[in-house]
Amino acid sequence: MQQQDLAKKAAGEKAAEYIKPGMTIGLGTGSTAYYAIMRVGALVRDGMPLRAVATSEQSELLAKEQGIPIISFSEVDKIDLDIDGADEVDEHFRLIKGGGGALLREKIVAAASSEMIVITDESKYVKHLGRFPLPVEIIPFAWELTFKRLIALDAAPVLRTRDGRTFVTDNGNYILDCHYEKIKDPAGLHQQLNDIPGVVENGLFLHYASRLIIGYADGSVKSLS
Ligand code: A5P
Repeated sequence: MQQQDLAKKAAGEKAAEYIKPGMTIGLGTGSTAYYAIMRVGALVRDGMPLRAVATSEQSELLAKEQGIPIISFSEVDKIDLDIDGADEVDEHFRLIKGGGGALLREKIVAAASSEMIVITDESKYVKHLGRFPLPVEIIPFAWELTFKRLIALDAAPVLRTRDGRTFVTDNGNYILDCHYEKIKDPAGLHQQLNDIPGVVENGLFLHYASRLIIGYADGSVKSLS
């Protein structure tokens, strides 16, 4: 296992220690959330009663393979604990998410959760948000106009592709990766982006995380709250 994976595994497994019997868990998406989901599966197989909702089709599939009971949102009264990764996190626990394209479902679940634990390796802990391109989910209709609106806002958007084709999210939308280098006013930018017709959601998560678990390659973790 590579060093970065060891760090992600340490963070993911540590987060699972905060799960209590009977909880409804939000399962994040990505290579760090993978390790948390694997650990949640082990807890279920050890007999801990819990239920979960997933933030992507990929995570739902993995959870089901691990025997984790996935419930539909019609059965959810509250989500106790959301565990998810991030592409960047700053000292105020503000996040950039969506590198894996799941930002919309991730934000819906984070907003519905009593608590959100963010799990990362140390490379994601930054002084200023913005070096990682900010993903913005847009609807395909007239996407070229939305793209131009973002150019006018100096976002330097790039339409995300995969294997030479336009990347399509689990929700049937496109992603524009926006290049800022340093985001000076995250709250203002969040508002400005979501005010554009055609934008569904952006990858700034500003008020959700209550705990940050940073994993290190030697298997140690730092848990900040
Ligand atoms: C998925 O859309 C993302 O928000 C991920 O949570 C984020 O990109 C972190 O992914 P990794 O743990 O794979 O770096």
